[in-house]
Formats: sequence, C-alpha cells, structure tokens
Amino acid sequence: MANSEHTFTAIKPDGVQRGLVGEIIKRFEQKGFCLVGLKFMQASEDLLKEHYIDLKHRPFFTGLVKYMHSGPVVAMSNLADSKPGTIRGDFCIPVGRNIIHGSDSVGSAEKKIGLWFQPEELDYKSCAQNWIYE
Ligand code: PPS
Repeated sequence: MANSEHTFTAIKPDGVQRGLVGEIIKRFEQKGFCLVGLKFMQASEDLLKEHYIDLKHRPFFTGLVKYMHSGPVVAMSNLADSKPGTIRGDFCIPVGRNIIHGSDSVGSAEKKIGLWFQPEELDYKSCAQNWIYE
C-alpha cells in the first residue's frame, strides 16, 4: 500500500452539539481517507489532560480541558497523508471553539491514538485503498 500513515482526529463538543458530525465525516470519506476507528464518547478530564499535556503551561489549558469535557466528542483514527483542509475555515470562528482536533505530526498521532483507542479496536483494513492510491 502506498500510504499507511495514521492520524488521530476528534470532533470537539461544539462540532457535536452543532450537528456537524455527519458533514465532517463525509468530508474525510469523500477525500478518500480511510476511517479505521471511531468512538462517540465523553472523554474524562484525566484523558484530556494527558491528550493536551504539551500545552499544560499555556494560559488556556484549563479552559481547553473544560471545553473538551463539556460534552461528548467523536474520536477517529484515519489513514491519511494530508489535511482535508477547510473544515475549520468553513464552520468556525475563534480558536477556542474550533470544532475539530487534528494531530500535527506522525509521532503525536501515534501517541494520541494509543491514548484514545485499544489496538484491537483498530483492526480494520479498507478494500478501497488500492482505488485511492497508485
Ligand atoms: S500553539 O500555540 O501553536 O502551541 O497552539 P495551537 O497549536 O495553535 O493550539 C493547540 C491547541 O490549543 C487550542 N487553543 C486554544 N484553546 C482555547 N483558547 C485559546 N486561546 C487557544 N489557543 C489554542 C487549539 O484549539 C488547539 O487545540 P487542538 O485540539 O490541538 O486543535
């Protein structure tokens, strides 16, 4: 397979509450990303503090954890090699209510996938990969 890089994405509580889950997942699927794992869940504060551990000294850390804990999120693991692009641009205004999380590196994605998913929850191979990648 030409591409086997995984990324971690989460639709944040505002994206869920605003009814954008279907629209966002549709864009990932249309782009050709392979959805490997998906959970609709209320994340614990401990999980969120670990997820954002690199930001723990930032002034917005407490508010960020509170916002992410304010309702259910949709956690996703995707096979990917580029950002789908315009979800934030189309749907949100301030950075503090930006609808969707996306990992910014392969290492970060591996760490986040390990936090949010057990390996057996991601045991899925898409038959469409050979029709999307050369
Ligand atoms: S930075 O400064 O480059 O380290 O931060 P950045 O990558 O832009 O953002 C990291 C995550 O922190 C969130 N963020 C904020 N939340 C609330 N208030 C403010 N002011 C704020 N600034 C940044 C931002 O949405 C990022 O969340 P994730 O979930 O990682 O996309």
